[in-house]
Amino acid sequence: MLDIIRIIRAGEDALKYADDVSAMIDEAAKSKNSGLAHRTPEYIRQKIREGKAVIAFVNSEVAGFCYIATWQGGEFVSHSGLIVSPKFRGRGLATAIKKECFLLSRDKYPNAKIFGLTTSPAVMRINTELGYVPVAFPELTTDEEFWKGCETCANFDILQRTKRFNCLCTGMLFNPNK
Ligand SMILES: CC(C)(COP(=O)(O)OP(=O)(O)OC[C@H]1O[C@@H](n2cnc3c(N)ncnc32)[C@H](O)[C@@H]1OP(=O)(O)O)[C@@H](O)C(=O)NCCC(=O)NCCS
Repeated sequence: MLDIIRIIRAGEDALKYADDVSAMIDEAAKSKNSGLAHRTPEYIRQKIREGKAVIAFVNSEVAGFCYIATWQGGEFVSHSGLIVSPKFRGRGLATAIKKECFLLSRDKYPNAKIFGLTTSPAVMRINTELGYVPVAFPELTTDEEFWKGCETCANFDILQRTKRFNCLCTGMLFNPNK
């Protein structure tokens, strides 16, 4: 039987999947290399309620997720928490989720610079296709709230040591004016 894959902007009916998404992120965050930070189910629900999340299903099972956030009064938009369930990886789901997040960001904040932090070669490839370039961290947002999100990452000590110039993650930026 063929799988039915849906990549959608998450609405109220996706709220019930917040626990599953949070658990998936936590599982992946256990790897020191993932650069993923903990996100509570309540935080995931907040993103869904704000219309700032994309969710993927394979048949009726939640298979992936990503959310957007704005910084410095909307000058920057970040994409974070990208996760695909291990059993659905390697089938193009992350590519489709990131593309939908990118379109969501461009629709909601057409003038914003879009950025992300990642250790994942897969995500670097996807971002490059979308027009992002790698940059040093001072080119990203200076919003303290954004960088607070790194405090639960397993590599936070490195970010502190470099005084936020770089870390194990690569910073990638899409500038709509370039
Ligand atoms: C990273 C992750 C989201 C990728 O999900 P996925 O659905 O398997 O990715 P895709 O199938 O869309 O692959 C995207 C591209 O990366 C490539 N790719 C996939 N895994 C790769 C890897 N380990 N190394 C290098 N390239 C890889 C794919 O070939 C594809 O490239 P192509 O389009 O040129 O063929 C998934 O592995 C995951 O959830 N990992 C744990 C959490 C994490 O690291 N999140 C990222 C935080 S920024």
